[in-house]
Amino acid sequence: MEKAERIRVRVPGKVNLALRVGGHRADGYHPLDTVFQAVSLFDEVEALPAPRGVRTVRVLGDQASLVPTDESNLALKAAQALASYAGMRQPGVELVIRKTIPVTGGMAGGSADAAAALIACAALWRIDVAPDELAVVAAGLGADVPFCLMGSTALGRGRGDELVPMLSRGSYHWVLALPDVELSTPEVFARFDELNPDAGPAPETPPGLLAGLASGDIAQVADNLVNDLQPAAVSLRPHLADVLAAGVDAGALAGIVSGSGPTCAFLSENEDAAVRLSNALAGSDLARAVRRVCAPVPGARLLSC
Ligand code: C5P
Repeated sequence: MEKAERIRVRVPGKVNLALRVGGHRADGYHPLDTVFQAVSLFDEVEALPAPRGVRTVRVLGDQASLVPTDESNLALKAAQALASYAGMRQPGVELVIRKTIPVTGGMAGGSADAAAALIACAALWRIDVAPDELAVVAAGLGADVPFCLMGSTALGRGRGDELVPMLSRGSYHWVLALPDVELSTPEVFARFDELNPDAGPAPETPPGLLAGLASGDIAQVADNLVNDLQPAAVSLRPHLADVLAAGVDAGALAGIVSGSGPTCAFLSENEDAAVRLSNALAGSDLARAVRRVCAPVPGARLLSC
C-alpha cells in the first residue's frame, strides 16, 4: 500500500526594523518603506489529502480559538488562490496549522500561514510553480505574504509586497513581549491617518539602519529602529508605553512595537543579555508571554514530503 503523504511546512514570523508609512492611497492601503526581518518563532502548516472539493482547516495551539476556520481563514484562501492559479478544479486538502506566532500580534502570523499553505498545497497537488510566480499569488492574499515566503531580511516598498532581499551580517537576539491587549491592523492604520492627516509618500528607511545591517553593527541597528505606526498603537493601547519602557530599563539596546502591534520587540546585545532581559520581563506581569528568538531565518520551507 502506498504510504500516506505527510507534507509539513515551517514558516517564521517577522518584525519590522523600519516601518515608514505614507498617507493612505485610493485603494485604502498605505505606501510603505520597510525592512522586514524573519525571526525564529515558527508556525507549522500540514497539508493532508482530502476528497475532491473538500477544503478544511484545523488550528492547534494556545490561541487557536482566535483563528477563524471558515472561508475567511487566510490559509484556506491561499489554497483556493493556488488552485485557481494552476487551473485546477476543486482539489481537496485538509490543512492543520500549529500556531506559535502570536495571533493578531503584528508579526504577520496569518500571512505566514497563508505563505506556508501555498507551499504545502503546491507540494500536495504536485504543482510546479516558480518562486516568482508564487510571490505573485502571495501578493494577492495580503501585503506581508510575499515576505513570509522569502524570509531572511528584505526591503519592502509599495504595500510592503515589492521586495528586495537585503545584505545583512550577524545574528540578532530579540526578546518579544506579548502584551495582553488586542489591536487590529486596520484600526492602527486608521489612527495613523488621524495623527498624520498631511502624510505624503512614505519617508525613507534610515540609511544608518541599512549600514548597520550591512556591517553587522547591532548597536547601530538598535539606534536606527523606527516604526511610524508606534505612536498610533501606543495612543490606542497606552499600556504599550509601559512595556517598551520596562524592556529598555531591563537592559535592551532598544525596543519597538512590531508592525501594527501589540507585540513589543527588544533588541539585545547578545544571547546572554537576551536571557537576562527575557527573565526580567517574564517576572514583570507586563506581558502574557515572553519569547526569546534569533534572526534572520529563512522563509516558508518544506520540512518533509
Ligand atoms: O494586506 P493585509 O490584508 O495583510 O492588510 C491588512 C490591513 O492593513 C489592510 O486592510 C489595511 O487596512 C492595512 N494596511 C495598509 N497599508 C499597507 C498594509 C496594510 O493600510 N501597506
